[in-house]
Amino acid sequence: MTDPIELNRRRWDELVPIHAGSRFYDVEGFLAGACSLLPIELAELGDVRGKSLVHLQCHFGLDTLSWARRGARVTGVDFAPAAIAKAAELAEQAGLAARFVESEVTAAPDALGGETFDVVFTSWGVLGWLPDLDAWARAVAALLTPGGVFYLVESHPTMLLFDGSADGRRTWPYFRTAEPIEATVEGSYAAPDATLENRREAVWIFELGQVVTALIDAGLCLDFLHEHDGNCSAMIPSMTKHPDGLWRLPEGELGLPLSFSIRARRASNS
Ligand SMILES: C[S@@+](CC[C@H](N)C(=O)[O-])C[C@H]1O[C@@H](n2cnc3c(N)ncnc32)[C@H](O)[C@@H]1O
Repeated sequence: MTDPIELNRRRWDELVPIHAGSRFYDVEGFLAGACSLLPIELAELGDVRGKSLVHLQCHFGLDTLSWARRGARVTGVDFAPAAIAKAAELAEQAGLAARFVESEVTAAPDALGGETFDVVFTSWGVLGWLPDLDAWARAVAALLTPGGVFYLVESHPTMLLFDGSADGRRTWPYFRTAEPIEATVEGSYAAPDATLENRREAVWIFELGQVVTALIDAGLCLDFLHEHDGNCSAMIPSMTKHPDGLWRLPEGELGLPLSFSIRARRASNS
């Protein structure tokens, strides 16, 4: 059996050119000046001008480069070589200073030579690929300067119970198992009709309590944990897009948390 991390890396590598050409990512709009970040993360993370920022699991760098446009000194990290190459190409095309480093996320502190940052940012679709949340949280803490800020916005594990079918069928358990769930997936959230060679993926369930506890155990102090009624993509067919860029269930439908966000800090004296 292929190592699950390698299985996922191959799939993400193949998705890079497909996503870079998708309407979902709208690279043309980005190059024309549009910001790929959503109002929620801009408001909750706040001003990054003059700060050093590392973006973990940066995909092909649109969000990383959007933070650069807002004045941060940015580094993007991803384990997919095609993502790193495309991100560097886009930085050049956009005339933005940025560094992109190929690394598995838990190895990022070593790959970056022990450098620390004012901000560690990571968003939307990152936690399900991680077999060890404690190792991930330790990497986040190791990348932060004392007093530095960590920000995560991610799909809510409750939303991930549903497989996206129109009848609201529930297919996934809530509680994490050591072994990943392996599945064959046609297309992707950004390119549902794409035909991929690498259709197998391995996903680990993440429980909300495990994510928060892993960060606390790694020494971070939480500013907030917010639960939201919207998500960055339409994972349930009845969802519609709102002016703030988030997709929500129709009004009156039984409410579910569709995403959550965490801001936390490394203590100044740690
Ligand atoms: C859903 S994307 C993140 C999306 C990002 N918010 C965006 O829209 O650009 C997930 C990213 O995580 C990366 N990734 C998955 N597992 C990883 C790992 N173990 N280490 C580093 N990167 C990983 C993938 O290559 C992919 O670029």
